[in-house]
Amino acid sequence: MSDTDPDRPDFSLDDIRREGLLPPAGAAPVAHDGTGRVDLRFAVEGAPGTEPAVRSVRVPPGVMVFDAASWNGIAIDSTCGGHGTCHKCRVRVEGPQPPVTRHDERTFTPDQIADGWRLACLVPAVQDVTVTVPPLTTRPKAATVGVGRQVILRPAVQKRYVELAEPSLADQRTDLARLRDAIDDLELVCDLSVLQKLPRVLRAADFKVTAVVVDEQLIDVEPGDTSTVRHGIAFDLGTTTVVATLLDLETGTPVAVASMLNKQQPFGADVISRISATMLDPDALGRLRGAARDTLAELAGEVCTDGGVDPVTVYEIALAGNATMVALALGIDPEPLGVAPFIMTTASYPGVLAADLGVEVHPRAPAVVFPALGAYVGGDIVAGMLATGMDRDKRTRLFIDVGTNCEIVLSDGDRILSTAAPAGPAFEGGAIRCGMRAADGAIEVVRLSADDPASSTPVELGVIGDVEPMGLCGSGLVDVVAELVRVGLLDSSGRFVPDDKAAEVAPALADRLTFVGQERVFVLHRPTPDADPAESVYLSQRDVRELQFAKAAISTGWTLLLEELGLEHNDVQQVLLAGSFGSYLSPAAAVRIGLVPTLPTLRIVSAGNVAGEGAKMALLSLRERTGAEALLEEVTYVELSDRSDFNDRFVEQLAF
Ligand code: FES
Repeated sequence: MSDTDPDRPDFSLDDIRREGLLPPAGAAPVAHDGTGRVDLRFAVEGAPGTEPAVRSVRVPPGVMVFDAASWNGIAIDSTCGGHGTCHKCRVRVEGPQPPVTRHDERTFTPDQIADGWRLACLVPAVQDVTVTVPPLTTRPKAATVGVGRQVILRPAVQKRYVELAEPSLADQRTDLARLRDAIDDLELVCDLSVLQKLPRVLRAADFKVTAVVVDEQLIDVEPGDTSTVRHGIAFDLGTTTVVATLLDLETGTPVAVASMLNKQQPFGADVISRISATMLDPDALGRLRGAARDTLAELAGEVCTDGGVDPVTVYEIALAGNATMVALALGIDPEPLGVAPFIMTTASYPGVLAADLGVEVHPRAPAVVFPALGAYVGGDIVAGMLATGMDRDKRTRLFIDVGTNCEIVLSDGDRILSTAAPAGPAFEGGAIRCGMRAADGAIEVVRLSADDPASSTPVELGVIGDVEPMGLCGSGLVDVVAELVRVGLLDSSGRFVPDDKAAEVAPALADRLTFVGQERVFVLHRPTPDADPAESVYLSQRDVRELQFAKAAISTGWTLLLEELGLEHNDVQQVLLAGSFGSYLSPAAAVRIGLVPTLPTLRIVSAGNVAGEGAKMALLSLRERTGAEALLEEVTYVELSDRSDFNDRFVEQLAF
């Protein structure tokens, strides 16, 4: 497949539908241009007589309402996993009405359709709407997690209620033998701490107890029948942000989600500065570990409180993080990760308990820590591969987790290659003059109108929290640079054009090109009409260079991986943009600046927090957990920095 026409469809849309990334057949496609954001306000109904819980989320256009809910921990009924066949994902849409599909016509009465009822997995988010989500009615055998993945519910955590025969002179089996005989399909392993409480609990509960088993380890014996209460917490331990999802392991549904900045931030924004901290100060490792533990503990407390769940019923946790974050959280010296030849202490972490990570849940709850492929392709990426099904899809797919360290995975349906590209802090707002994190006040969407000098809105800004703009986050940075290239104010080398040229190509915007000190800047927002540019939110020439270096590092990475597999841009059938930054990139802007291959925007999809999704899958399905281990054998890591042509390629990729 060497035709480079990006508009030529050379793969089946059904392939994509299988992943739940397009409306199932029969759903009317709704056009969008791959730019901007859509606000979805979910009103989740609970028990009769209670007020709905309201959550607002912002997603790139085209994400299915069902997926947007799932990524944000909002459970919508489903037994088909968002594939348009179970007709259970009923929601009511208020606001601009989505098109009616034939599946909607079969599911709802005309009056219900007129009232806004639709199947959530057939509604793409293209306009701001409110979505009412009825309470769950089904007890699923499978759960939808990851990117349109459906997993059969088979958690490692099992609970067995047993009524044991009381001992007698004629039946002098030990307490443990009595329990083992009642659960004879498992080879129960029991440690001293459970033995210490076993006799008391058995007798106090008249030998009617619930055994809590994780894999085959008996971690507790509870009085009475508690068999329907079991929970787990999935953590995405990011360098910047940490996310926790509390899961009901009975139903596979999320109960609560919380996130916060990693408390290790004071030690530096990236992994290298945190590793350096441990090399400079012998106490730093302990303090960094403490900060990670505090972060995880606080989030665990928050999700349990929000979900009304007793932490002691959380019997297992899963954690996906990069190799440095995991090492620091476990108190393992990270220095070898930071210096050539970049060696991990271990790729996998058996035998870790939640308590080892500072997470105060059940005291004997194990922690599933995702294995890593290498020092710079960590457990978070293994979790992401699991969540996106990179190992089980026959299409050619490119996975890019955009961040300070950018991880790239390419699969042609047969071989899987991975690499890491040091993109630097530009995408997280670091090293950018007016850069900031994606928080309230950050400009995340930019639209420029070049032509009409009389226009009152030559610059349209989307600002997180709809407040006064305070700075530029990573997705806003990519958007503004893409727009400036589009309207001709930035040339292909990344330089602002001279004033006369600016007045010619973009008269409505030319006066926004000015100077702050010696540096050329483009002013995005002035707090007052006559404010000094230095007091404004602006993009500087140096900011453009920072972004150029970051995008060149990433595009050099995927270019070389494509070459390794003998592929060209148009052979890529799907690009998955992952991570807390990548998921919020506008596909159109990503194409325009060359961050991703030149492809129709339909092929570029936001994958959400895939590391967290992979961690959820590991809690819900033993089979998927095994799949994560298997990935270590299937993926080949490609080291780019020692390639002789790396620098030449990097320079080629700098241009827009
Ligand atoms: S989730 Fe099954 S039809 Fe929408």
